[in-house]
Amino acid sequence: MLTVNNTAELRQQIRAFKQAGKTIGFVPTMGNLHQGHLTLVRKAQQVADVVVVSIFVNPLQFGNPEDLQNYPRTLQQDLALLEEQGTALVFTPTPEIIYPQGLDKHTFVEVPVLSDMLEGASRPGHFRGVTTIVSKLFNLVQPDIACFGEKDFQQVAVIRQMVEDLAMDIEIIPVPIVREENGLAMSSRNNRLTEQERAIAPRLAQAMHKMADHLLANPLDVPSAIQFGEAAIVDAEMKPDELFICDARTLGEVNADTKEAVILIAAFLGQVRLIDNVVVTLK
Ligand code: PAF
Repeated sequence: MLTVNNTAELRQQIRAFKQAGKTIGFVPTMGNLHQGHLTLVRKAQQVADVVVVSIFVNPLQFGNPEDLQNYPRTLQQDLALLEEQGTALVFTPTPEIIYPQGLDKHTFVEVPVLSDMLEGASRPGHFRGVTTIVSKLFNLVQPDIACFGEKDFQQVAVIRQMVEDLAMDIEIIPVPIVREENGLAMSSRNNRLTEQERAIAPRLAQAMHKMADHLLANPLDVPSAIQFGEAAIVDAEMKPDELFICDARTLGEVNADTKEAVILIAAFLGQVRLIDNVVVTLK
């Protein structure tokens, strides 16, 4: 496995892959890898000849400097997991390599509307940070396909829109959420839960599934399902943060034409904000 941290060497390796006629699969990450990430790598390996993974904690997508500082960085462990998984190349740049002029002076890429709704409404600039780094990484890695986890449902929608709007020749492959046996969606944030919180955490997915059942029984009554969901989260000893039910295709409101709705859920368990989602087929 090759590990490179500068763009010149990355471009050279990418050229070598292309000259050898290899298709490139890409998995962008912020490190602190778990089985969810490795599932993305495996998916990319199934559909491309070589897989490139990036590990970069992107300052541009954090609203809160403390969150950025506290984001877990486990590079050596991540590299060992990626090597074991048969990754061809890992790109591990520093913020200075990616944003040499500083964050304020960098060109940005922004997908309107989709970036400002739902999660984007309470995290201004977050999706702009994501689309800026992902488009830069796409330009560097020049992948044929890129895999993203459906755990960040809105992120996948935003990136797909960016790829379509900017006519990028890259297939975006969404990969289903990987769950622990108890139903908890895998996330780097789970590492920050205390032992006691870990025992409670699976109840978020249970609350979400109860909410899905409620929605199926009353498909157009979204406010009632939201209310039901909030109560179920409080019952699960968590603090509801955001709860949305929207059309899974447009992320707009559920209406009589909606075939699939998505429940997007975020709740605090202690200091840790957990997120999850489930798609509910209405018709
Ligand atoms: O999903 C993530 O880990 C990040 O948002 C991404 C796509 C790697 C961009 O920094």
